[in-house]
Amino acid sequence: MGDAYSEVDDGGLRASLRGIWSSVAPAWGELAEQVDARGAELAEAMLDAGALVWGDHVLEIACGPGGLGIAAAGKVGPEGTVVLSDIAAEMTTIAVERAHRAGLTNITARQLDLERIDCPDSAFDKVLCRDGLMLVPDPAAGAREARRILRPGGRAVFAVWGPRDRNPWLGVLFDAVTAETGISVPPPGMPGPFSLEAPGALGAILAAAGFIGIDVCEISTPMTVESIADWWSVVPALAGPLARLLGSLPAELTRAIRARAVAAMADFATSDGYRLPGVSLMGVGCRPPR
Ligand SMILES: C[S@@+](CC[C@H](N)C(=O)[O-])C[C@H]1O[C@@H](n2cnc3c(N)ncnc32)[C@H](O)[C@@H]1O
Repeated sequence: MGDAYSEVDDGGLRASLRGIWSSVAPAWGELAEQVDARGAELAEAMLDAGALVWGDHVLEIACGPGGLGIAAAGKVGPEGTVVLSDIAAEMTTIAVERAHRAGLTNITARQLDLERIDCPDSAFDKVLCRDGLMLVPDPAAGAREARRILRPGGRAVFAVWGPRDRNPWLGVLFDAVTAETGISVPPPGMPGPFSLEAPGALGAILAAAGFIGIDVCEISTPMTVESIADWWSVVPALAGPLARLLGSLPAELTRAIRARAVAAMADFATSDGYRLPGVSLMGVGCRPPR
């Protein structure tokens, strides 16, 4: 596996995570338009930060239903290419179908683990990853892999969730689950959406991977919904490992979790629904030129 991958006995953690993401892929497919609408500003910022140009060869890692890579395909034109990749083949199937429905011919899909990317060195001009790096057991390995597969001078853009207390759109659910079940979310040893929330964590990982010109900034990514029902139909369904836990709980407990989360959301009510704050961290870095 080489030094880019942690050769630890993870007790089946990685296989379990892959299975979990495969199992929530149908929900990601059904909600793909909503995911893209919410992530549109972040996607635009990432594409700007990536300085995509006509003819670029781009790899999107942890693509999910592929909204970011699909947007990138328009920027690189027919001379360029975008590879949509994810650990879950079910996700890449959805992503590439969406790309083809959009009439794009410069997109292909691969099942790839971002901690150990099965691509040659220097294969891409740009690497994009929205909301994926923090979800793996060893994000530092993912950053090293991104640098390795970039050509010298190539650029990577990562987005991860900022601090949990500034992301109540998801934090209220985590808090409610813990309050009602006593289970920590995520459980100890399990990566989660806020794994890289600490100030400086994303920048440090990029620096340790050998990127230069690193810049990390905050992007506001609030979630706006018309009703609690809308929020409940989206967030628990997409929440990877948590979706599986919620699916396994008795209905009474799930109702209690929902009620507790709803009470916590009262602070964010508006005249026409809810505006739940969200903050993403966007990190950009370049592979040094030769
Ligand atoms: C929160 S979703 C984000 C999806 C998409 N990037 C977006 O912004 O809509 C996280 C994605 O990371 C993928 N993922 C999780 N672990 C991964 C790994 N080790 N390698 C590649 N992808 C992974 C999941 O399958 C899932 O599609």
